[in-house]
Amino acid sequence: MKLSVPTSSPLQSRDFIYGVATSAFQIEGASDRRLPCIWDTFCVQPGAISDGSDGRIACDHYHRWEQDLDLIASLHVDAYRFSVSWPRVMDKDGNPNQVGIDFYLRLLDGLAARNIKAFVTLYHWDLPQYLEDEGGWLNRETAFKFRDYADMVSRAFGDRVYSYATLNEPFCSAYLGYEKGIHAPGISDLAGGRRASHHLLLAHGLALKVLNKNSPDSLNGLVLNMSPTYPLSGSAEDRQAAVLADDMLFNWYAQPVLAGTYPAAALAHLPPEAQPPVEPGDMELIAQPMDYLGLNYYTRAVFQADPVQGFVESPPNGVPVTDMGWEVCPQALTDLLVGLNNRYELPPLFITENGAAVVDEKINGEINDVDRLNYYQDHLNAVHDAILQAVDIKGYFAWSLLDNFEWALGHEKRFGITYVDYATQERTLKASGHAYAEFINKRVAGN
Ligand code: NOJ
Repeated sequence: MKLSVPTSSPLQSRDFIYGVATSAFQIEGASDRRLPCIWDTFCVQPGAISDGSDGRIACDHYHRWEQDLDLIASLHVDAYRFSVSWPRVMDKDGNPNQVGIDFYLRLLDGLAARNIKAFVTLYHWDLPQYLEDEGGWLNRETAFKFRDYADMVSRAFGDRVYSYATLNEPFCSAYLGYEKGIHAPGISDLAGGRRASHHLLLAHGLALKVLNKNSPDSLNGLVLNMSPTYPLSGSAEDRQAAVLADDMLFNWYAQPVLAGTYPAAALAHLPPEAQPPVEPGDMELIAQPMDYLGLNYYTRAVFQADPVQGFVESPPNGVPVTDMGWEVCPQALTDLLVGLNNRYELPPLFITENGAAVVDEKINGEINDVDRLNYYQDHLNAVHDAILQAVDIKGYFAWSLLDNFEWALGHEKRFGITYVDYATQERTLKASGHAYAEFINKRVAGN
């Protein structure tokens, strides 16, 4: 089983960056070697994590980083996207924690030695608990604390980083964490969610300024998750609901960073107490030019009109879905990319995450994850189609290098191109991983 694109495809270019992605809390473990974060606290709340697991050991990457780097190198990828654990590298008083910083320096030097570009995400949801105790992202001060953290990290890392992302998916931090309560810190409050989102965006703007100063040669940007929204029916009400859902959920982040304003229809939809707490100068900071925008894409979202909430999501029905229950819809990735390109003046794009959860079975030592492989094939084709329609896409990252801690769903869902046996921590490359490696290695040089 192989992955392929036409020999003339821009995806064959050696300049197109292929990578694999992970995040700190999901793989590192070694929670005893850092300060607690909001996910440690959330994991011990009864019922918060569906299988009762937590991040104390995860993939034990903290101790197995060298073996994991060799695994990454064996995939022939150009880049590795990982995140820095804020509570590992900074103490409560804002001083650097050298033990934690040294871990990442070893990782960065190990990547350089293997000729792999480092894509560093500064915030992948693991807010230090001591900051949550002061209000977390509901507190405007947290944005300034994040700026100081970005400053410290970017000085410590020097010129080792190819690309920084300030935040990963602020939608998940704000909406799932403070508005819906299904992610840490588990707060369900409309006004809180909107407040948190503004402070996250402000944190992005403040940190970007610092990164551009301390690390002018790296590509500095932001990673957003976007599911293009579609109406359930052709009725005017459903079509309006799909647009409103986009403005409330996904475009809520894209429009501020790309155009400097919150979507007007969403602002009109929100009650006065849930308006984002914008202060003079905030939107200019948030909308600063970025070197790139990272997009995480997994599925599309379908909405219908709802008399109370304005819109309600309509779950997939009669279509192929992954083990997350998410519709497999590669065309929506092309639609998303082309749609954004038509709507905004975009910086270059990276697909910073794409992948599928599949029920994997290890048979005779092998994992024949055909559904995941097909998912990758169809979505690579979708990226190819978008590039042919003039979207400037510089690279693609598979989520994920390893099976890992899938947040509120714990270890039940497997996204890896590498299988992890959590009892032994043994890693086994799946068929999709073998195919991805071969595909990347066999690119037609010089295209
Ligand atoms: C996006 C997140 O960035 C990542 O942490 C998560 O595991 C994947 N989506 C899959 O849900």
